[in-house]
Amino acid sequence: MRDLRKSYGDVVAVRGVDFTVSAGEVFALLGPNGAGKTTTLEILEGFRERTSGEVAVLGVDPARGGRALRERLGIVLQDTAVDPFLTVREVLTRNAGYYPRPRPVLEVIDLVGLGEKAEQRVQKLSGGQQRRLDVALGIVGNPELVFLDEPTTGFDPSARRSAWELVRGLIDGGTTIVLTTHYMDEAQALADRVAVIAGGQIVAAGTPETIGGRDTAAVRIRFRLPPGRSAQDIPLLAEAGPDGEVRLHTEDEVRDLHTLTGWALEAGIELDGLTVDRPSLEDVYLELVAGPDDEPAAVTR
Ligand SMILES: Nc1ncnc2c1ncn2[C@@H]1O[C@H](COP(=O)(O)OP(=O)(O)OP(=O)(O)O)[C@@H](O)[C@H]1O
Ligand SMILES: [Mg+2]
Repeated sequence: MRDLRKSYGDVVAVRGVDFTVSAGEVFALLGPNGAGKTTTLEILEGFRERTSGEVAVLGVDPARGGRALRERLGIVLQDTAVDPFLTVREVLTRNAGYYPRPRPVLEVIDLVGLGEKAEQRVQKLSGGQQRRLDVALGIVGNPELVFLDEPTTGFDPSARRSAWELVRGLIDGGTTIVLTTHYMDEAQALADRVAVIAGGQIVAAGTPETIGGRDTAAVRIRFRLPPGRSAQDIPLLAEAGPDGEVRLHTEDEVRDLHTLTGWALEAGIELDGLTVDRPSLEDVYLELVAGPDDEPAAVTR
């Protein structure tokens, strides 16, 4: 995709987005509500016309790909409307019929953990179960490329882990995946590369480990201030928050930890809650999407 732009009337939803996803890769789009993720995905899926820019999906312009392209794609929309009176098995069987080489329907039902609900009407599924059905609909056609728009929103934690396993299974089978998510652990667990989009533009891209300079950022050392001590007692430049947690940043964690733990051992002090880490993907993400005064990201021309 090169210089993709999309306006809805006066609202500029996407303003110059470039990215490439290689075959077999998992690419995650992250960004706040209204950032332009769904718009971008729907243009790739051929559901939405772009205002300008070049787009090729499996070598084909999605605006002109028609059925031949659609048969090679799996799509989980952010909001899917499924006939509420059909059963899980009926919905999937009907959908499988649109594809030349579908997966066996019962196998897909098992894969998404709806085995017990195969004969249940869609209207009687819980929210998370309906979302599992959406995921099933996205993979039943045995696609080469899958678009997942917030696939696990509404999933309980164990259902989310199962969904990750399912996605890993697709990856092992060589499927290419483009997803959006608001869960940073999901991006971390699944994505080879992530791009953060805000206000319709990519503000950072890279691997989950290196984006935003994560891998080279200063190490954080945290612990609770020992009783009866103040931050000045600590032999390093440190500040204690109102919650009594001491935080310090260092470029030389080996030396500073040595100083800190040496001091604590000598003085017989416990360093409760001692943690040593670098910024998480969520920390970096929040920094990247924070506007000057945390303005909502949508942009008006
Ligand atoms: N059909 C539409 N008509 C007019 N404006 C729209 C339409 N769809 C989206 N927008 C606007 O375009 C911008 C981007 O929306 P989009 O749905 O792409 O965001 P998103 O990144 O998917 O957000 P979310 O995380 O909430 O799903 C928003 O400002 C939204 O209000
Ligand atoms: Mg969206």
